[in-house]
Amino acid sequence: MKFFVDTADVADIREVAEVGLLDGVTTNPSLIMKSGRDFIEVVTEICSIVDGPVSAEVTALDSEGMIREGVKLAALADNVVVKLPLTWDGLKACKALVAEGIETNVTLCFSANQGLLAAKAGATYISPFIGRLDDLGVDGMELIHDLRTVYDNYGFETEILAASIRSAAHVQECALAGADVATVPPPVLKSLAKHKLTDAGLEAFMKDWEKTGQTI
Ligand code: E4P
Repeated sequence: MKFFVDTADVADIREVAEVGLLDGVTTNPSLIMKSGRDFIEVVTEICSIVDGPVSAEVTALDSEGMIREGVKLAALADNVVVKLPLTWDGLKACKALVAEGIETNVTLCFSANQGLLAAKAGATYISPFIGRLDDLGVDGMELIHDLRTVYDNYGFETEILAASIRSAAHVQECALAGADVATVPPPVLKSLAKHKLTDAGLEAFMKDWEKTGQTI
């Protein structure tokens, strides 16, 4: 499973990239607002840090506007992926941008039927939002399982980019469900390395090592 980080915070992105674990980045208008940065400027900077795909979201609501914005965003760098909302206009824009050779990420997916439409529109990625379904008392992970089944049934190449991930358990369940990518907030990504038995084991090893009086 590939790891993307879900942030527009350049310092956080650099930190994860330095470990060599970063496959890509997703942003959205709320994350851009949180960064306090100029959208075009920050996306361009992120694209220079990361070799992998960087999702940048259009803000037009009509297909023509989305296509116009998508073409502009795609011209910023070779690794820009144009993020489009899962609406009728978004699907139309997806089809048109894909025909121009532009990669797309269809976002705000909350049902397998929506995911089926995005795949038929040729989306490079589909972004099902797990946490926001969980928030409503619906098991978001079921959507990942359903999309995996639907895409495998018909051989769709659209990658399942699990989004709205809130916990380490979400990441593990996505991997078990066969998601192609998980886009994870940096603190959650870092938490994957943590286990209390790892900490306790390391502490015991270090104490015993000290007793040997040796160095490497
Ligand atoms: C995905 O691309 C979105 O940016 C993101 O995962 C949304 O997460 P949230 O529901 O925690 O805002």
